[in-house]
Amino acid sequence: MKKLWGGAHREPLSPSAEHYGNSLESDLVFWLEDVHGSIAHAMMLGETGIITKKESALLVKGLKQIVAEGPGKLPTDAEDIHTAVEMRLKKIVGEVAGKLHTARSRNDQVATDTRFYLDGQLRLLEGFVKLLQKKFVAQAEAHFNTLMPGSTHQQHAQPITLGFHLLAHFWALQRHGWRIARLREMQSYSPLGSAALAGTSFPIDRRRTSSLLGFTAPIPNALDATSDRSHVLDALHICAQVMTDLSRLANELVLWSTPEFGWVSLPDSHTTGSSIMPQKRNPDFAELMRGRAGRAVGNYVSVATMMKGLVLGYNRDTQEDKPPLFDSLDLAVASVLLMWEMIAGAKFNTERMAAATRGDFSTATDLADFLAEKGVPFRTAHEQVGKIVRACIDRKIGLEDLTPELLKKIAPKVPKEALKVLDPRASVNSRESEGGTGPKAVAKQLRQAKALLKAEGFKKPY
Ligand code: ARG
Repeated sequence: MKKLWGGAHREPLSPSAEHYGNSLESDLVFWLEDVHGSIAHAMMLGETGIITKKESALLVKGLKQIVAEGPGKLPTDAEDIHTAVEMRLKKIVGEVAGKLHTARSRNDQVATDTRFYLDGQLRLLEGFVKLLQKKFVAQAEAHFNTLMPGSTHQQHAQPITLGFHLLAHFWALQRHGWRIARLREMQSYSPLGSAALAGTSFPIDRRRTSSLLGFTAPIPNALDATSDRSHVLDALHICAQVMTDLSRLANELVLWSTPEFGWVSLPDSHTTGSSIMPQKRNPDFAELMRGRAGRAVGNYVSVATMMKGLVLGYNRDTQEDKPPLFDSLDLAVASVLLMWEMIAGAKFNTERMAAATRGDFSTATDLADFLAEKGVPFRTAHEQVGKIVRACIDRKIGLEDLTPELLKKIAPKVPKEALKVLDPRASVNSRESEGGTGPKAVAKQLRQAKALLKAEGFKKPY
């Protein structure tokens, strides 16, 4: 196996040690970022006179050829991507390839590649998050009037609309986008030119390579630049949070598509059958998403544990940040995209949802509020309504089945106009406080949501 070192070694690595340390397979994910990093470095070396203009031009030309021919031509017997690219370059341009690594180390190189790659992946994730948000807004508009039970403790609490419920997911996604945008801003600083740990004696221009690669500025301290992986942890944490929210959403789809609920049906394209039970439509993909959230959390924990206690300066341990990082980014992107498809294809059974708001006593608060508005202290009202609920349960009827006569019998002090607040639609319509489920309040949220979707990227949303 080819290495970029070995002069001081009398004996080669044992094959098992070589195999154990090889990172080429996972590094291939950012081969293009690695080559672009080298192009910027080679240009800067020529501009500063560290190598000649001619040498620089040759290196850049060779590296551009690598970009054009793709990773398929890279050698497979290299220790890592940095070695593979240099070996390929040597095949193309000859001995001058050996000048590319002047004033550079794989320590600043790998740190640069990771940040560069991470930015692209985060941008991709940001874009998909926005796409999913659009689907939520479209479904929320379509279900602006659809009644459903709102729950606390997974027990019917107060009626809401499906539009309101779906917008709650929109806002969770907005926060994810916001987090991603903030991380992109924070991590976009260049380690390149930090060399192994202490900088270099060559008159390099770090600002130039930083701006060539689209970073904001060089990282001020070379030791920090080569040791820091906090942005990797931030990214893993964001992916874990995205997956956690998607798993909650996925669980809703799993539950709501059971015969007991029957609130949603997922399209054939996103359910599977059973090899033994012909009637089955299993929500496998929602289940997998729910399950894979565990993997995303595990990836965060694995890197956090790897970093704990590491002394400053490059440590080979940090090679272990990449497989979990790449896995979590892929997982988050693929899951957001799949959820987009599932939400787009979901058919909500609006009649069943609305029917579920009847007979569930979910307008009991409205009755208590009505009495409180009439001047009864809320605590007393709460108790009076509790008695009414009890009496209804004893008679096996719902609140909305109460007649004026029955109400008079059960609670003589409660006026009969109170009955009009027991309708779930009236209940929803009354909750117009800011952020509430009432139609005006939801219309306002929808306007806010649409304005955010129109805006570029993810700025402070509220
Ligand atoms: N594969 C290594 C990593 O990911 C590249 C840097 C190697 N540096 C070193 N000094 N051995 O961290």
